[in-house]
Amino acid sequence: MCGIVGYVGNPSVQPEHDALEVVLEGLRRLEYRGYDSAGVAVYADGQIAARKKAGKVAALEAEIERSPLPASQLGIGHTRWATHGAPSDVNSHPHVVAGGKLAVVHNGIIENFVELRTELQAKGYTFISETDTEVAATLLADTLEGEAAGNLSKAMQMTCQRLEGAFTILAISVDAPDRIVAARLNSPLVIGVGEGEMFLGSDVSGFIDYTKQAVEMDNGQIVTITAEGYDIVTFDGEPAQGKEFTIEWDAAAAKKDGFNSFMEKEIHDQPAAIRDTLMGRFDENGKLTLDELHIDESILRSVDKIIVIACGTAAYAGQVARYAIEHWCRIPTEVELAHEFRYRDPIVNEKTLVVALSQSGETMDTLMAVRHAREQGAKVIAICNTYGSSIPREADACLYTHAGPEISVASTKAFLAQITATYLLGLYLAQLRGNMFADEIHSVIAELQKIPEKVQDVIDNKAQVEQLSRDMVDAKSVLFLGRHVGFPVALEGALKLKEIAYLHAEGFAAGELKHGPIALIEEGQPVFVIVPSPRGRDSLHAKVVSNIQEIRARGAITIVIAEEGDDAVEQFANHVIRIPQSPTLMQPLLATVPLQIFACGVATEKGYDVDQPRNLAKSVTVE
Ligand code: F6R
Repeated sequence: MCGIVGYVGNPSVQPEHDALEVVLEGLRRLEYRGYDSAGVAVYADGQIAARKKAGKVAALEAEIERSPLPASQLGIGHTRWATHGAPSDVNSHPHVVAGGKLAVVHNGIIENFVELRTELQAKGYTFISETDTEVAATLLADTLEGEAAGNLSKAMQMTCQRLEGAFTILAISVDAPDRIVAARLNSPLVIGVGEGEMFLGSDVSGFIDYTKQAVEMDNGQIVTITAEGYDIVTFDGEPAQGKEFTIEWDAAAAKKDGFNSFMEKEIHDQPAAIRDTLMGRFDENGKLTLDELHIDESILRSVDKIIVIACGTAAYAGQVARYAIEHWCRIPTEVELAHEFRYRDPIVNEKTLVVALSQSGETMDTLMAVRHAREQGAKVIAICNTYGSSIPREADACLYTHAGPEISVASTKAFLAQITATYLLGLYLAQLRGNMFADEIHSVIAELQKIPEKVQDVIDNKAQVEQLSRDMVDAKSVLFLGRHVGFPVALEGALKLKEIAYLHAEGFAAGELKHGPIALIEEGQPVFVIVPSPRGRDSLHAKVVSNIQEIRARGAITIVIAEEGDDAVEQFANHVIRIPQSPTLMQPLLATVPLQIFACGVATEKGYDVDQPRNLAKSVTVE
């Protein structure tokens, strides 16, 4: 889950670009992937010079200011989420070995590193860190000096054949000072193509300031970049092709834009994220045209079960989607955490449609579950926000969300975009299978099109929620209740508070209250309640209003999220947060927003780093 950057430039074409600056800029942008430590290595004057430091990229920058690095046209960098070894200076990357002649950065886990370390120790090598990376670097150095006879790409091929696990490795050597050689296996790596300069990044944000041209590469491949271009081979040395693409993200979209945090900015991006995800996916009559779903229509018609797999917030988006998909398509739909799905021997066959939700497209648990599903014969549709990432590449088709880069570790706009995209998928299946009339689909789409403006209204009323977050900053625990689609919203509200405000929070299905959780209610316990539309299904609204009464009677402070005009809640609520009226299935797209603002407000009030909460990283690329 670390971030990796590489740069090589030709000074006569790009005289302004210094490797250190380019690499540091990439690390700042990739820091969301891990921020336990950071480091860089540059090549200049026949030597590799490296600096590394525990802590964030800012700590590394301070270290470089204290001990400057020379101007250079070749450099690699790393921002770390610790797996093997504590986040100390010595365990930080790059690992410089072979008497200073070779520097390596690595993302992932090398599972057989203990065995390899023992083998290398027997050859006389000693190790100064606890990391698997130093072992890989030493093996690479040993191979380079030995069998590979100084050929860095060849040495990387031979080394990769010995490594087990998931990894991206970048290496520079004083003996090949015009190039970076990088390998990829089940861990992300994208190539950036500039003019007289080339880049490597864990994702495109690593070089988005410099070029919009990028190349995807496959697993089991090695790329050599020089200022003039790139060359890809397999781990067996066979020539291979990458897939070139143009980056649609705007560099400015990955900046804070005057907001205090990326999370705050990304909450404000949500109307655009929904609008952009809807754009171009239906005609003026509301007929869905999901051209990217190039899976045979007859296969989609014969699907008899849908399983949505995802982790964390994405899994809650899947839970919301289940209500809509089952309602619209009448296909039994399950939602499962990807890591549970993978290891439970699920019943999956060629009539199962698996929908994999992932913002990053790199979540290892979800990727492994995708592979497992495909091995069992299922078709897999990915719903993903990151072009060129692993999950869409391995799925049968992908419906991209167009939320733009999500930098804050806590997911916000990707959640709403995921719900939007799964709704489009559900409607598309209903259209294809004839479960809904065209005018019914049209009217749902018309409602979806109104959502961006309504989300904007919720955001515009944020002052009330921000005040609440200041008032509740000392709460020891916050509970969230919801029914139907409000239930996953409650879970998401609780997750946001846990992850960024480090505050105990639980989400419950409101109907479950009397089966246990109500025992938690005592005087002063804050409880958020998501109230369904009074115009919605059955007696859901009345039931939730009763739940509010029950907890209020036991001393809870009730913070009720209810539609405008829903007066029934007033008398039982300590606070009412209003959201615009909308059909039940649209409500999660609105009711989630105050919960995001609340969590962001509490974390800010407590003085925490909202975007980079402790112990977390943006994409979890290890199982
Ligand atoms: C929570 C959060 C995580 C992610 C989860 C899946 O705010 O961001 O729970 O939702 O790690 O990540 P993706 O969607 O990248 O697969």
